[in-house]
Amino acid sequence: MIIAVDGPTASGKGTISRALAAHYGLRWLDTGLLYRAVGRQVELNGGNADDPADALAACVFPDSLLDDPVLRDEATGGLASRVSIHPQVRAALNQRQVDFANQPGGAVLDGRDIGTVIAPNADAKLFVTASAEVRATRRYGEMRGRGIMANYESILADIKARDKRDSERTDAPLKAAEDAVLLDNGNLTIGAAVQAAIAAVEARLQRS
Ligand code: DC
Repeated sequence: MIIAVDGPTASGKGTISRALAAHYGLRWLDTGLLYRAVGRQVELNGGNADDPADALAACVFPDSLLDDPVLRDEATGGLASRVSIHPQVRAALNQRQVDFANQPGGAVLDGRDIGTVIAPNADAKLFVTASAEVRATRRYGEMRGRGIMANYESILADIKARDKRDSERTDAPLKAAEDAVLLDNGNLTIGAAVQAAIAAVEARLQRS
């Protein structure tokens, strides 16, 4: 079984995907981490994230980079969003994701284009969202919880800029697949959002 979970930054799609993977005993891939690794590698190479050649060169990174906590930083998220615009970068990361999705037994993948490009035949597709303000409030709380100085207004501006870049790019933009179930978790606790996600997957499985 393949479960595709897409949605904008800080929507809670990672938490929901991890819980779905645990519930169904499937492996999980956070595909954003791959783009974050490319963004970080551009920086390490001294390159420019907006330059397609520099971004493509950064697609060669050691797997150990995927465990580097710096990948979780807001700044790396911004670099990831910039490198993800380049079709060459998307093509370079495509096969790894497709292979992961099609492993025996199936998988859960979360990202921006899982239901539309990476796994268009997924058994269940979710599009997880919440308003930019709700997402900024959550991100602010999360950063303060980690002892990081944070400014709500600048987090909100970053989230809006990322949404715009991710949605307006030509290649594989952030958008819900036509057959995705929309899950707005703005007013839900984490537990309720996970329950809603499991119910949506079950409904899809029963229909097929
Ligand atoms: O999910 P995330 O915030 O870790 O993703 C970081 C960036 O990577 C996001 O702004 C756009 C890009 N991305 C993408 O283009 N396609 C994906 N499947 C996953 C992430």
